Amino acid sequence: MEIQIGRAALQLKQGDITRETADAIVNAANSSLLGGGGVDGAIHRAGGPAILEECRRLGGCEPGDAKLTTGGKLPARYVIHTVGPIWHGGRSREPEILASAYRRSLEVAMAKGLRSVAFPSISTGAYGYPIEKAARVALTAVAEFLQSHPEIERVTFVLFSSPDLQVYEAALQSIHLS
Ligand code: APR
Repeated sequence: MEIQIGRAALQLKQGDITRETADAIVNAANSSLLGGGGVDGAIHRAGGPAILEECRRLGGCEPGDAKLTTGGKLPARYVIHTVGPIWHGGRSREPEILASAYRRSLEVAMAKGLRSVAFPSISTGAYGYPIEKAARVALTAVAEFLQSHPEIERVTFVLFSSPDLQVYEAALQSIHLS
């Protein structure tokens, strides 16, 4: 599924984000930036040690912030590491931190002059954020950013499973962007 927002394309697809050829792919990291499981593990495995070597020099990352490294052996030139909120029931600013993770990732991409970014479904795995809620926050934050920053030309959400893709497609329709 793909829609236009201004001149930008917002695309939803199922796949493995380590295979994406966007200028940057976003990693759902933890605040140490020293690797983990899930998509974090997949990106470090596929991208090789150069990514972790750069991560070590970044001094970690706050939830809601984002930092850039090389893409190593990945098809993508860069990895933008961001830290989503751990779900604690929704009354600990989880929506705000999740929106910030998406916004800051796009700001970091723009500052580097990148035009295309691919996101995983941040915080909806180990961090337990209910995916229906996360999808609405994510798509709203990205759409708002694209409306005011034409420098970013393409954002792709790469969902690891078909059910996850369906949740994002329903969310996109329900926030009237499609
Ligand atoms: N490509 C795309 N999406 C993927 C991939 C992949 N190769 N592998 C996993 N995912 C999906 C998961 O299915 C989930 O929908 O990424 C989403 C985010 O799940 P996690 O990777 O568990 O990330 P998150 O919930 O943000 O938890 C972050 O987990 O791996 C650790 O170091 C990480 O501590 C941090 C925590």
